[in-house]
Amino acid sequence: MNQSSTRIADLKHHVGAVVTVRAWVTHLRSKGKVAFVVARDGTGILQAVLVKSEVPEASWNAFAELTQEASVALTGEVRADARAPGGFEMGVQTLEVIGASPNDYPIQPKEHGIDFLLDNRTFWLRSQRQVAIMRVRHELEQAVHDFFYARDFIRCDTPILTAAIGERAGLFSTDYFDEGTAYLAQTGQLYGEALAAAMGRIYTFGPTFRAEKSKTRRHLTEFWMIEPEMAWYDQDDNMDLQEAFVRYLVERVLERRQEELKVLERDTSKLDCVSQPFVRLDYGDAVKLAQGKGSDIVWGDDLGAPDEALIVDEYQRPVFVVNYPKEAKAFYMKENPLDPRTVRCADLLAPEGRGEIIGGSQREDDYDKILARLTHEGLPVEAYGWYLDLRKYGTFTHSGFGLGLERTIAWICGIEHIREVIAFPRMMGRLSP
Ligand code: 4AD
Ligand code: MG
Repeated sequence: MNQSSTRIADLKHHVGAVVTVRAWVTHLRSKGKVAFVVARDGTGILQAVLVKSEVPEASWNAFAELTQEASVALTGEVRADARAPGGFEMGVQTLEVIGASPNDYPIQPKEHGIDFLLDNRTFWLRSQRQVAIMRVRHELEQAVHDFFYARDFIRCDTPILTAAIGERAGLFSTDYFDEGTAYLAQTGQLYGEALAAAMGRIYTFGPTFRAEKSKTRRHLTEFWMIEPEMAWYDQDDNMDLQEAFVRYLVERVLERRQEELKVLERDTSKLDCVSQPFVRLDYGDAVKLAQGKGSDIVWGDDLGAPDEALIVDEYQRPVFVVNYPKEAKAFYMKENPLDPRTVRCADLLAPEGRGEIIGGSQREDDYDKILARLTHEGLPVEAYGWYLDLRKYGTFTHSGFGLGLERTIAWICGIEHIREVIAFPRMMGRLSP
């Protein structure tokens, strides 16, 4: 079937020829003996014109029956027409209805509430805006692979069902035969560290799960994370890599997805800031800065979303906040030799109030220190035997980070809430569709 039909984006190669396009109807209009069908196929939008005297009666009658989202086959001549959406128009010879669509199609050209749209996500995804977001997401996913492939990182897949807990966020769990409880992975990092000792430089790209009870515009319960892990990188090398990575991702979207950004009405000048060096701000200075702007944060606290916004606002470009207090961060971060109250880590805060898009650190490579941290955190030490062994058999300086894909897309696209940048979002109160 594909050989005999043409995708709308490819019509530019067929001007003057007769082709068949299979698509879904978005708009209908008629003026006496001339009728217009606007249709979409995921690659673009086509305006097709039917003239009563030039089409078979069956096609003219089929037009009268058409409704929004009916699927159709349109056959006709492709004409260049600057006024038509996409720049091409079809002079229809035949119109065939493939699948009718009842008149009660849920998504209408009017304002719908967010819950209604999410309940009807399968249909909402057909809108031009949602297609544009998914295409940017696709570009970013490919860019991630291209970036690391070019640097000779090995992509590794880590388990979803795990026994060792990686982060402090809420856990999803399930019974696992005689093994007891399995947790859905909050991170692939711990396995990434083992793989870095085997392969040098690796990255993972997979779904991660957190039972986040917070209903914010930045939290999903299932999200996708990219987690590189590098042997022989210290925290400065780690931040240099993050900076190059984020710059590459933004530039790639600017270079290849202008059409989509236009649909999203994104002010792309706001993204130019990534070409400047990112700020590297000590946690203590970040706290003082936020305090000076009215925050009641005190040294020792993790930064809240409002603090992050205050800090980034000062610089209008991405900011690394470095060397957080130990107590505010996960057990695996390396103690800072210059100030043992803190760890060698950084969160990367995105501009425009987007908050943290990356969390990363140098890893504690001292066996006794990391064992003490695990114990102090009350984590089940017996589940971490293999992880501790990485420090026992040939310990090594290593670092890594995790970039949240959805937060990054939301920032680049200028989308307020991350529920819109994943096809089927999972949040508290939403498991369907
Ligand atoms: O800062 P986090 O918790 O770091 C880790 O998971 C480390 N193991 C990463 C590493 O060093 N390999 O999460 C990393 C990023 C955050 O900066 C954020 O972008 C995203 O993951 N993230 C979420 N995105 C959507 N919904 C949530 N509930 C998220 N929690 C974290
Ligand atoms: Mg974090």
